[in-house]
Amino acid sequence: MHHKGRLVACFLLALTCFFVVRNHKSFQLQRDSSSTVPSKKPNIVFILADDLGWGDVGYLNPLVITPTIDKLAREGVILNQSYVAQSCSPSRAAIMSGYYPYRLGFQEDGVTVDMPTGVPLHLMLLPRKLQQLGYSTYMVGKWHLGFCKKEYTPNGRGFDHFYGYYGAGQDHYTHVGKCRGLDLHHDFEPDRTQNGTYSTYLFSGKAVEFIKAHDKSKPFFLYLAFQNVHSPLQVPEIYTDMYPSVANENRRIKLGMITAMDDGIAKVVNALRRHGLLDNTLIVFSSDNGAPQNERFEGNNWPLRGGKGSLFEGGTRAVGFIHGSMLEKTGYVNNQLIHAVDWYPTLSTVAGAETLDPEMDGLNVWNTLRKNEPSPRTEFVYNILERKPLAGIRVHDYKLIVGNSHFSACRVPPPETKLKFEIECTSLIRNGVYLYDLKNDPTESFNLAEKMPQRVKEMNTRIEEYKKKLVPTLDRGISVALLSDPQNFGGAWAPGWC
Ligand SMILES: *[C@@H]1O[C@H](CO)[C@@H](O)[C@H](O)[C@H]1NC(C)=O
Ligand SMILES: *[C@@H]1O[C@H](CO)[C@@H](O)[C@H](O)[C@H]1NC(C)=O
Repeated sequence: MHHKGRLVACFLLALTCFFVVRNHKSFQLQRDSSSTVPSKKPNIVFILADDLGWGDVGYLNPLVITPTIDKLAREGVILNQSYVAQSCSPSRAAIMSGYYPYRLGFQEDGVTVDMPTGVPLHLMLLPRKLQQLGYSTYMVGKWHLGFCKKEYTPNGRGFDHFYGYYGAGQDHYTHVGKCRGLDLHHDFEPDRTQNGTYSTYLFSGKAVEFIKAHDKSKPFFLYLAFQNVHSPLQVPEIYTDMYPSVANENRRIKLGMITAMDDGIAKVVNALRRHGLLDNTLIVFSSDNGAPQNERFEGNNWPLRGGKGSLFEGGTRAVGFIHGSMLEKTGYVNNQLIHAVDWYPTLSTVAGAETLDPEMDGLNVWNTLRKNEPSPRTEFVYNILERKPLAGIRVHDYKLIVGNSHFSACRVPPPETKLKFEIECTSLIRNGVYLYDLKNDPTESFNLAEKMPQRVKEMNTRIEEYKKKLVPTLDRGISVALLSDPQNFGGAWAPGWC
């Protein structure tokens, strides 16, 4: 009896041990499966729209026809506090490097075709990082981060294949940049065969080709940087015809360009689905800055103040969403703070990176995006400009802009409503100090600077701290303008002149 009892006890103990071990194991397994890295590396498609305003997508403005964008946004996670820089090259530099543009000499406006420079070569850009993590890397569209030598071009920075533009502002049909040379390239070869094909058709078509040819045993990163909806205002007529109620012709064309881009995105999403890749693909969509504010009244940042080129919300608060089966919580609006510099560490983490450059400004916000956890980001630098001295910083809900130059920030009503407006412009003046509580005043209507001098002081101190890492703005190489002339390169813009 005694003996039998001991046996049973032993057996029970062993069983318990077995269960404890098993449970422990399954606990560990569970922990692993919910840790930050998905088991099978997801594909990443990063779609960047050019000069798309806050009121330029259907899910925020029902007049705009963007069925694919709306569907992806609603099925995924709408980003309501996702920030970029005030213009093209600075935002692209931030996304590609994880550094604030003022730390790269990229704080001012776009890189011009005569600038003998690019993003500093000692930095490893996102495509190279993902390449090292086993990804095939494709870029289609507009680069705008320098091309004076091969090392600065998309192929030089880690894209296996590139199809698109080096510079900015090309004609959407001839692909000629700055009226001087062809700016359409397949890797390092100029493509002279597409004169007359609308850029969005070309770029979505090429993205589909890359997806089709992709070796499915590897994950891929596709950076699809549309030239839409940047000027020149051009689009096939079928798209402007979709907006008969809009009287302003410039607005009608821009709206058409938005819908053309939406169709392009639909082609890419359909290709992902057709090739069985959609389920394991994380799609990121963002604008690079707000819509420009000009006398053409083409873009819509309503109700935000300011537009492209300004540090006000209309220039820097990006339309954006993410979509993918690896997101745990979907179908909602995410109000967490994120900045363009965060994409690099976040997407690298998704791709399995274990280490990142500690000097980087970006933070890994994967759990914020995936589970709506509070963002590790509580502050960011809008930018620090030197030519027209201007700095902007966000700390929690407060935003401080300090400027010592003259520039105006307007509040332009939705351009679809009228042909002409009375617009309300505020000129920033010498030694201007502007403090806003964005939580209660997202349209920056009430300057609290005089009411809250202590907060202004603290935030100014923060700006001074950030400024210690400033790299002076990269110079324009006026003297080398002749060197970059397409006439020296068979009529196309090309590297090889610095
Ligand atoms: C594109 O085609 C148009 C019309 O045929 C022509 O005038 C123009 O020179 C062409 N441009 C280029 C870059 O080939
Ligand atoms: C988006 O942010 C604004 C503040 O800028 C806020 O008023 C609005 O409620 C947010 N949208 C949602 C759906 O949370």
